[in-house]
Amino acid sequence: MEEQLKQLQEEAVKKAAAAQDLKELNDIRVAYLGKKGPVTEVLKGMGKLSAEERPKMGALVNVVREAITTAIETKQSSLEAEAIQKQLAEESVDVTLPGRPVKLGGHHPLTRVTEEIEDLFIGMGYTIAEGPEVEQDYYNFEALNLPKGHPARDMQDTFYITPELLLRTHTSPVQVRTMLKHAGKGPVKIICPGKVYRRDSDDATHSHQFNQIEGLVVGENIRMSDLKGTLDAFAKRMFGEDREIRLRPSFFPFTEPSVEVDVSCMCGGKGCSICKGTGWIEVLGAGMVHPNVLEMAGFDSTVYSGFAFGMGQERIAMLKYGIDDIRHFYTNDMRFLKQFSVHE
Ligand code: PHE
Repeated sequence: MEEQLKQLQEEAVKKAAAAQDLKELNDIRVAYLGKKGPVTEVLKGMGKLSAEERPKMGALVNVVREAITTAIETKQSSLEAEAIQKQLAEESVDVTLPGRPVKLGGHHPLTRVTEEIEDLFIGMGYTIAEGPEVEQDYYNFEALNLPKGHPARDMQDTFYITPELLLRTHTSPVQVRTMLKHAGKGPVKIICPGKVYRRDSDDATHSHQFNQIEGLVVGENIRMSDLKGTLDAFAKRMFGEDREIRLRPSFFPFTEPSVEVDVSCMCGGKGCSICKGTGWIEVLGAGMVHPNVLEMAGFDSTVYSGFAFGMGQERIAMLKYGIDDIRHFYTNDMRFLKQFSVHE
């Protein structure tokens, strides 16, 4: 019996050591130490032993059981440790790998310029007004002192949809609409950004669709000097503190007097290809709101006066960023657009 027990121990310890996984190990435990296992069998047979032999044999069974249990437990911990090592190896993340680059887009140069101009005027107390791109002839022309048949309508070749409906040629109709909303009461202080349309043949400096920002201030005692100071502040903030402006007499039916506004060139007046040797660059049109326009919009022109100006973002962006062809803004060439993104 002693011999038998020793053999069982040897066998079980060997098998436990060779177990491949936890399930096999558990099977070994059940097979040797379970209720129907051989060790239990030996215990059951103890009743037949003599009184001297019994404690001896009992102690031996305990030793064998202890040895098998220890072998199984040792193997169990090593199998568990192995499993953890395997899992760690499989799930390990190599934090030294370079990350995948996240490509960031950027605002379109026209959006950038528009927002910059908006911020600048909002900072001077203006609010933003918007209006429809499909506009009535009345707001686009008539209410701006341009009755039907007026020769100055030729200045803005127009896409007509019906005789009374057109694609707006400038954002000045938004000024008319805003003044009407004020019902004859000042002050009005707005800028109107938006798309405008003209029947131009597209080339390096012309586009049948482009963007404008117009500004309008109506109040009591608004003077030409207010216009000049405003545009001077605009030019300096947009192009640099060292820039000057110059006003040249011009004509617009909706302003009187009217001016073209030039900004001094970055060449500092020496003359370069951008200013075509003149030292000045034309950037916008402006003037004092014509009394007829004020009256048609419901303002008493003996009490109220105002100034207005209008500029094209394409032109401003071309000057600011040195872009030589207006078509770059619309052809979606990534090589062009990428230059304006935040990151490469
Ligand atoms: N609306 C004019 C244009 O598009 C620009 C302008 C606006 C001129 C306001 C004077 C005053 O040509």
